[in-house]
Amino acid sequence: MIAIACDHGGFELKKAIKEYLTSQNIAFIDMGCEDASSVDYPIYAEKVAKAIQSGECDRGILLCGTGIGIGIAANKFKGIRAAVCTDCFTAEATREHNDANVLCMGGRVVGAGLAVKITETFLQTPFTGGERHVRRISQIRKIEETGSAL
Ligand code: RB5
Repeated sequence: MIAIACDHGGFELKKAIKEYLTSQNIAFIDMGCEDASSVDYPIYAEKVAKAIQSGECDRGILLCGTGIGIGIAANKFKGIRAAVCTDCFTAEATREHNDANVLCMGGRVVGAGLAVKITETFLQTPFTGGERHVRRISQIRKIEETGSAL
């Protein structure tokens, strides 16, 4: 199950991503916003982050003007590894190396066609695993727990 949300800057892009998910029979929950009126992106980052933390959803997609603000907010939540992607290479790499669980994109940065391809790549690419990647993700968890990777 995918949790998807946006602010006004990502509202149009969200429509395109939802169309893609629907066409692929990929289940999702749209956590807002509901139209292109100005809203505060941290609120939508929190909705998606909490849906993942609770286990209601496995992955998230967050869209704002750049993908950056909503990604910064999402990464404040424990267990969230949100990655801003502007191309398929970074989408693939962040799944393989970082086991990213939230994809962030910017409605003012990427067009709908590319955003759909990035989404497809992100959702289809497995985590590579392997000792070094697992170790580094454990270090990120340790930062969350103790304030240090060491
Ligand atoms: C909203 O104007 C804009 O600041 C927001 O969508 C996002 O780009 C922030 O990072």
